[in-house]
Amino acid sequence: MYSCSLNLTTSGEKMKIYPSASYQEPAGISMLPVRLLRLVTAVFKNLDEQFWRRRGLIQDWLELALCGIDPLLSRQRMAAEVLQVLNETPETKTLVLRPPSRWKGFTEGQYLPVEVDINGVRMRRCYSISSTSQQFRRESLISITVKQVAGGVVSNFLNHQVRAGDILYIGDAEGKFTLDSSLPGRKPVFIAAGSGITPMMPMLEALYAEHPEFAATLIYYARNRQELIFSERLKRLEQRYTQLSVHTHFTEEEGRVNKTHLLRDCPDIGSSEVYLCGPEQFMATVKSELCALSDVAPQIHQESFGSAHSMSAECQDIEASVSFGLSGKVVQSGGDKSLLELAELAGLQPKFGCRGGVCHECTCVKTHGRVMNRLTGEVLPDEQEYIQACIAIPVGEVSIGNW
Ligand SMILES: Cc1cc2nc3c(=O)[nH]c(=O)nc-3n(C[C@H](O)[C@H](O)[C@H](O)COP(=O)(O)OP(=O)(O)OC[C@H]3O[C@@H](n4cnc5c(N)ncnc54)[C@H](O)[C@@H]3O)c2cc1C
Ligand code: FES
Repeated sequence: MYSCSLNLTTSGEKMKIYPSASYQEPAGISMLPVRLLRLVTAVFKNLDEQFWRRRGLIQDWLELALCGIDPLLSRQRMAAEVLQVLNETPETKTLVLRPPSRWKGFTEGQYLPVEVDINGVRMRRCYSISSTSQQFRRESLISITVKQVAGGVVSNFLNHQVRAGDILYIGDAEGKFTLDSSLPGRKPVFIAAGSGITPMMPMLEALYAEHPEFAATLIYYARNRQELIFSERLKRLEQRYTQLSVHTHFTEEEGRVNKTHLLRDCPDIGSSEVYLCGPEQFMATVKSELCALSDVAPQIHQESFGSAHSMSAECQDIEASVSFGLSGKVVQSGGDKSLLELAELAGLQPKFGCRGGVCHECTCVKTHGRVMNRLTGEVLPDEQEYIQACIAIPVGEVSIGNW
């Protein structure tokens, strides 16, 4: 009988339409349609990147046809198959993904833009890659680890709806929160809370795989023992590398991060190089404690997950009219929406990532008018400049040139 079982190509990409290599064509059954399909797919797949970047009717039609055969063949979006969904804690899951062969790889600490379609709406969020580049080179697999946020659309979808075999759309890895390839000049201290551990776990694993003699400290906060993400991976690392000192804190028992914890866990923290990731409030406290502990400015590398959807009170009741130059659309605003939200309301599909002023994915060109930064309340003057649309509230007449 004809078998259309999953077959891994040499690149590791899953091709659902190909019969296995050992398969013998049965006598008397015409293989012409299968061969034709195989040929057409190969031709489409090998059209160069330039061709797919020029969006037009032909490209859109071909994309539709390829996706109809298998979403993993998409050329306009990068599809990754979910191979496994692993329980980390009651509120956190790790998704193991197989990116397509054209995905460019990553450095530990970088994040992955992830796109999902939920009830017909396309949503984009960023997730730190929680596996190592060594695993990617060995198995062509990567992982993201997602903690559900109360009322959060995408984090809950990824935790509760996604199953092995599903498709997620991804972008190339981004971000500068990485360890320098040479050894850092000062002792690294990693300070994380909650899901802030996700970029740090692979950073530590990569650091010790290469430099087992290196001294480093991890200070990690979770609400309680059940919510400690990667407890097994951390235990393995700690047992194997005596130069790594790991300190976990449970805020339900010990309270929030403070100077006493930091100094007890790492007495020379004032002269260390700090890698920091966690909720905004946690990061702000750690930074102010570090500044108080040292006479010189502390060296801090940080990754913010951008929970700040907070709106400055002064933003309310600001009348504005925004014109988008490229599309010709015009929208009115009452001060309660960002430029990004207004563009989406106008039917545009601008690029975005964190929606919280972190990743700069939403950068656009303001050609005219004033905008207020909704995180700081600062009003930017009427000049042509690049702005982050997700945190910009238009004030009066504003023009955006490139949307
Ligand atoms: C560079 C980067 C890396 C990230 N890496 C990870 C990661 O490895 N693991 C992970 O779980 N998340 C990570 N995040 C956060 C992630 O992108 C989403 O913001 C998060 O999953 C919430 O999305 P949502 O759609 O569920 O919430 P939304 O529907 O966007 O928001 C719903 C509500 O939750 C609040 N909220 C939104 N985001 C957060 C947050 N991060 N913390 C607390 N409250 C929030 C909002 O204020 C809002 O009221 C990262 C973010 C960035 C920018
Ligand atoms: S979407 Fe990340 S800065 Fe605007």
